[in-house]
Amino acid sequence: MTLEIVVGTQWGDEGKGRIVDLLAAEAAVVARYNGGDNAGHTVKVGNQTFKLHLLPAGLIHPHAFGVLGNGMVVNPTSLQKEMEMLRAAGIEVNPQRMMISYAAHLITPGHKALDVAQELARGAGQIGTTGRGIGPAYTDKAARRGLRLLDMLDPQGFRQKMREHIRSVNMQLQVIYQAEPLEVEATAAEFEDFAVMLKPYIGDAGAKVAAALAAGQVVLAEGAQGTLLDLDQGTYPFVTSSSPTAPGALTGLGLGMQREAARVIGVTKSFQTRVGAGPFPTEVQGKAAERLRGTGANPWDEFGTTTGRPRRVGWLDGVLLRYAVRINGLTELMVTKLDVLSGLKTIPICIAYHSQGHEYKELPLGPADLSPFEPVYAELPGWQEDLTGARNWSDLPRNAQGYLDKITEISGVQISLASVGPERDQIVKREKN
Ligand code: IMP
Repeated sequence: MTLEIVVGTQWGDEGKGRIVDLLAAEAAVVARYNGGDNAGHTVKVGNQTFKLHLLPAGLIHPHAFGVLGNGMVVNPTSLQKEMEMLRAAGIEVNPQRMMISYAAHLITPGHKALDVAQELARGAGQIGTTGRGIGPAYTDKAARRGLRLLDMLDPQGFRQKMREHIRSVNMQLQVIYQAEPLEVEATAAEFEDFAVMLKPYIGDAGAKVAAALAAGQVVLAEGAQGTLLDLDQGTYPFVTSSSPTAPGALTGLGLGMQREAARVIGVTKSFQTRVGAGPFPTEVQGKAAERLRGTGANPWDEFGTTTGRPRRVGWLDGVLLRYAVRINGLTELMVTKLDVLSGLKTIPICIAYHSQGHEYKELPLGPADLSPFEPVYAELPGWQEDLTGARNWSDLPRNAQGYLDKITEISGVQISLASVGPERDQIVKREKN
């Protein structure tokens, strides 16, 4: 019985897609448990680059069974596009290899329109959402008026529910936000067609996952976004509306506490990035930022997979990393994009915060309000060598190993792997001591 959870330790975009791709080779079931098509997981296989937003990234492996868990919000338009994209690449997508939880909620054009209208109304206080309707879909879920995949099992009845939903959204759009209403009949008809298309995929995904675990198979739970975007544990209100953290994998897949210790893999970038608004104590600007971000010429430069927005960048924040270790119960760390740091003379890493004469190694009140804190940095010696050809731990220059050792010292968690480029084989694994 092995549940492996891959979780981002930062604000998303840690490079989880490629780690999932690696681990999925050994997994029988690959499952998404939170969020929707706000995620963007890039996987590069040979000369093909897959950008997946909604489907589990592990589905690229032909042997794996894909699950979309009850913790997700599913936009059928994006889902259909993604299924077709994989089929065009020769990857089978059918009900024999994929299931969507009946309890997952739907994202409609109404939710997307509300997301955009609500962001506009926030003015200077914008969260910088992806505009995918995530917040409004989870709002409807919590308000107990959401539309679920279960409702699609009766496509005609669902059409009527969609009419009522769009009418209610239109009231909000027109009265509160002075925005254009949506077309009721056309949207309802389109969603009836989606219901017919998706019906064979709808099932008890929690039971499917539990059965796989009981049979001794590996289930890989793919977290989207990251710890610091968690609705409860993140930099609220600059968060997403779901639970990307490891405990979210249990509620988001419909699993109970696992008796056997799960592998909880924290993926951390070797520096820090963020898309959208919100606190970011180690953020840098100017030349240093350009250096970390890249120019956008490469698909792995720091520009959003879902929105194309340039990401904010900064140095690795050890205080927030320690927090992520605690919140997720991480059992190991995997560090991505180590190659990007080559060529720097020294590399700052935040080891504590400073505020009004006090030094903090732990956050006194969680990460919601980071504004009073100044990062305290340790300056580590950099390395000049290109790392992209490294394949063994011993190929890494001494200072690169020293940087990884510092991450372990700060976090208290062993690093099992580091990535040194976007290709499948550009990784170094650490042999266990
Ligand atoms: P929402 O999830 O679209 O509501 O956006 C809320 C916040 O989460 C915004 O700051 C987004 O930029 C951020 N966000 C959502 N999904 C991702 C992701 O997959 N990677 C990085 N940031 C994300």
